[in-house]
Amino acid sequence: MARARRGSRLALVLALLLGAPKAALAAAEPQVNVIPAPLSVASAADPTPVLIADGETIFAPRGDTAALQIARELSDLALSTRGLTLKLAVGDGPGPNTPEIVLVRQPGLGPEAYALDVKQGQARIAATGDAGLFYGAVTLWQLLTPDAGRGPVTLAAVRIEDRPQFAWRGLLLDSARHFQTPAEVEQLIDWMSLHKLNVLHWHLVDDQGWRLQIRKYPQLTAVGAWRTPPAGSPDATPAGARYGGFYTQGQVRAIVAHAAARHVTIVPEIEMPGHAVSALLAYPQLGAGGPAPAAAQTDWGGFPYVYNVDDRTFGFLEDVLTEVMALFPGRYIHVGGDEAAKERWNSTPQAQARLRALGQSDPAALQADFTRRIAAFLEAHGRRLVGWDEILQGGELPADAVVMSWHGVDGALAAAAKGHDAVLAPAPVLYFDNRPGEGPREPPGRGPPVTLRDVYAFNPLPATLTPEAAGHLLGLQGNLWTEHVRTAPQVQAMTFPKAAAVAEVAWSAPGRRDWEGFVRRLPAQYARYAALGIGADASAVTVRVDAAPAGADATVTLGSQLGLGEMRYTTDGSEPGPASPLYAQAFAVKLPARVRAVAYLDGVRLGPVADAQLDAASIRRRASQQLRLCNDKLQLSLEGARTADGRSPAYLVNPQDACWIYAGADLTGIERLTVAFARLPFNFGLDAGHNSVILHPPRQPAGELEVRQDSCTTDPIAVAALPPGTAGSHAEVSLPLPARSGRHDLCFTFTSLGFDPLLALDWVQLAPPGSAAAGPAPRGR
Ligand code: ACM
Repeated sequence: MARARRGSRLALVLALLLGAPKAALAAAEPQVNVIPAPLSVASAADPTPVLIADGETIFAPRGDTAALQIARELSDLALSTRGLTLKLAVGDGPGPNTPEIVLVRQPGLGPEAYALDVKQGQARIAATGDAGLFYGAVTLWQLLTPDAGRGPVTLAAVRIEDRPQFAWRGLLLDSARHFQTPAEVEQLIDWMSLHKLNVLHWHLVDDQGWRLQIRKYPQLTAVGAWRTPPAGSPDATPAGARYGGFYTQGQVRAIVAHAAARHVTIVPEIEMPGHAVSALLAYPQLGAGGPAPAAAQTDWGGFPYVYNVDDRTFGFLEDVLTEVMALFPGRYIHVGGDEAAKERWNSTPQAQARLRALGQSDPAALQADFTRRIAAFLEAHGRRLVGWDEILQGGELPADAVVMSWHGVDGALAAAAKGHDAVLAPAPVLYFDNRPGEGPREPPGRGPPVTLRDVYAFNPLPATLTPEAAGHLLGLQGNLWTEHVRTAPQVQAMTFPKAAAVAEVAWSAPGRRDWEGFVRRLPAQYARYAALGIGADASAVTVRVDAAPAGADATVTLGSQLGLGEMRYTTDGSEPGPASPLYAQAFAVKLPARVRAVAYLDGVRLGPVADAQLDAASIRRRASQQLRLCNDKLQLSLEGARTADGRSPAYLVNPQDACWIYAGADLTGIERLTVAFARLPFNFGLDAGHNSVILHPPRQPAGELEVRQDSCTTDPIAVAALPPGTAGSHAEVSLPLPARSGRHDLCFTFTSLGFDPLLALDWVQLAPPGSAAAGPAPRGR
């Protein structure tokens, strides 16, 4: 430590003596546009850059079919994303100073490690294992795509040495709540591998769907893979078609092979003892206590059903796992374990008998017993059980079991302290279904915003962790739950670019993580996403333009999630550039106005141009996503049916309380307001939470919109009757407001007799002073 300090002081003194600016010190390491950040990057002794142009050759060692395959993938990627044509050849290449790319085997590096030398006209990747060679090729591909350009690339002469921090660098894909086609799953695996992510945690079973063909139990997919979406939900069809699908064993074998070729291991998750309504619907005799589920589960949430703990049920589970193990060759088999309705076992004779035999009374002891039995079965077949952190409760866990922590990081820390291996997957920060920002048109998902920066800031190695416990951390993963992420474009937007942040946290050594450096590398990453056909979410790099009334005109505020760099803007309609006005504070505009704004870092543009058309109406309009929920204990951003004007908005709502606040609305001169709303199917299994739904009593059966000022509990200042409607309908109500002046919080509540359908606010429009009408509806999504 003291040595290092002396060293850096010496460097500083030298720099001062030589008159070098501070930037020159930091510039000792060449900047490469690689995500995740490599372990080390150094300038080559010969600094001559290397031009990679069309027609050059990638050489793979003679007889090394794995290397040849990697060379082929590199060539394919260079062509599809850069338009570069690289040839393939077998052999060591014609020698130094010949333009070429060379893959070589070098003993003594770790299985995932590689070294990449760019010098003397060549790019040379050396690795011991196939994975290391593949990752070296991924890094070289990133060097070949440093920007959105096409054609030849000049590479700086560097040496990169690299290996991962963590062995488990994962992504959870929930195929149970919504189904992705095999082609979509394979594409996601391709994209994961280009982030050096190596574990696909495949959530194949949940209450709403059983997605894996099991030959011995055909009803699992004949019955359990299908549901009829509630009317008015985005999955519903006018004809009431069922929704679902499953993966045949042949498809799974192909997906597993596809993943293996990209160094991705698939960890299948077969949920037990809870979250398996789909199985209990198919085979009701396997359930514990009380009535079996009556119909396919179309609700999101939790349900009071669990597997029984009798021999018949364990026989079934072992049969299922036997087929699962035959399909998935990896060591890890995930068996869920989260949120099991253990109290059901209190009314199950077999469960009570087993509890007595265990000398216990708490049903949590039964889940521990359940987990031990399944773990022993898997272990006898050479596999390791993985479960959510609930498997820590109720008794001893087999030493080999792996704990996946979703209740923050505490489960993993507790497990690691007890000597278990653990994986970090904490909600909400690594739950990729949380909305990525607070703009008016974020994709649907969970309500609480989790930004790219939040994900990047996740620290997998908190200071409280002992070195021994840290040794038990296998790694981390982002979790793409899909209750509200239905389509391939939505999957892409929620996964990327957050997967890049998870990749860097998981792969790069702690000292290599650097938010500013990551942000500098993002434009190239977005360009790669575009070239790959990934519709990545741009909230992180898009300037947010907010406007509020100021007399007859407006005050504009710009915001960025990045926390660094500059925002540049124009108000004359021109494209903002590096010399456009620098945003320093809120500014006034005369209406109507057009504000265009973009984020920069040191003159480099980071994202798309935000383009806001402002007029007296638009600055008085708020989408639900820009409002506050009065009660934010549960926040969802729900997609409804498509509206008559062709939009598919996401409604920010607490299903337990239909109440929103428009903070600081300027009411001066406002005589009228309009509120658009939808009736959404209330498809939530809230269990006891149903008792916590707050209903605001109506005066007439279809309910009302009530508007209050500065409080949500005083008498309303305006009330409008809602037109009647069924789930899926969308309507607007317009109502006069009594004269007020100045800024006030407006509180909007919908009254109703029941909570199904769920009344969800879409947008609020205050009619501009002096206008009779409320103005046009918002455009977009
Ligand atoms: C979970 O979110 N129940 C793992």
